[in-house]
Amino acid sequence: MSITKFPASSSPASTGAPIAKVTMPALAEMKRSAKPISSLTAYDYPTSRLADEAGIDLILVGDSLAMVVLGHENTLAVTVDEMLHHTRAVRRAVRRALLVADMPFGSYHGTVAEGLSNAIRFIKEAGAEAVKVEGPRIDLVRALTESEIPVVAHLGLTPQSLHRMGGYRVQARTAETVLQLKSDAQALADAGAGAIVLEGVPREVAAAITAELPIPTIGIGAGPDCDGQILVFHDLVNLTFAPAPKFVRQYADAAAQIRTAIEHYREDVEHRVFPSDEESYHLPESAQRALESRESSNRKLGTLRKA
Ligand code: KIV
Repeated sequence: MSITKFPASSSPASTGAPIAKVTMPALAEMKRSAKPISSLTAYDYPTSRLADEAGIDLILVGDSLAMVVLGHENTLAVTVDEMLHHTRAVRRAVRRALLVADMPFGSYHGTVAEGLSNAIRFIKEAGAEAVKVEGPRIDLVRALTESEIPVVAHLGLTPQSLHRMGGYRVQARTAETVLQLKSDAQALADAGAGAIVLEGVPREVAAAITAELPIPTIGIGAGPDCDGQILVFHDLVNLTFAPAPKFVRQYADAAAQIRTAIEHYREDVEHRVFPSDEESYHLPESAQRALESRESSNRKLGTLRKA
């Protein structure tokens, strides 16, 4: 069975309706027909399954994994093997959405050949349908495209450039940097990128690039005029233990709900009200009677031996 095949018995999405699989060409079609592309990051089976069943179009196993799941200070430490491990978990859950894997820092910053062989691992070993790379890596994007690997590019505030940028700062705020960003975006599209994430750029800049580019733009902190939007799952549900950036809208407070649930559980254990009798397994009556009779015979035998 291929890694992307699912058992016939497991029905797709919550509706049980047939899946219209989201592919890279489908994203292009969504741009042409002005249908907004919904995207979300996910890193494990349950959340990616929920995202897929909720109808999210593109699921990204982001290298934000390093921060929101693994507890690192930034994204730089996460490895290819860690990203592969989580991409495989997401692959097991996702049926409809386009599954994109983020190439981590260091996995494509050397030669194009290294970038290509690491990208192949995401497709071959983890079942990703596209990879995402940060920055204007035109030669790499061309080589990946020529090797049948769809690419999502990523420009603007690229977290892997943290040290060069001197912090997480909104990018393209001067005429010169806006022109550079536009020309990078065009070059990436020309090299074959199938979509481009625009992160942390002024709304006006993202709108202009979205209007000019033939490929979909997916914004995060880039205003509402992109062809789609992406958020980090843990931002969306408040699981980051840090103040949310301005561009995040929190749709749930999972931290509060999970904290309360765990506190209630601890209290119930401490007060011996968990588990209840209904939450316990019981010995069948026949076994109980047999046990009692065996124990009583053993006691009698013991008494006789002592006498
Ligand atoms: O790693 C990530 O989560 C990302 C998104 C913010 C686009 O790159």
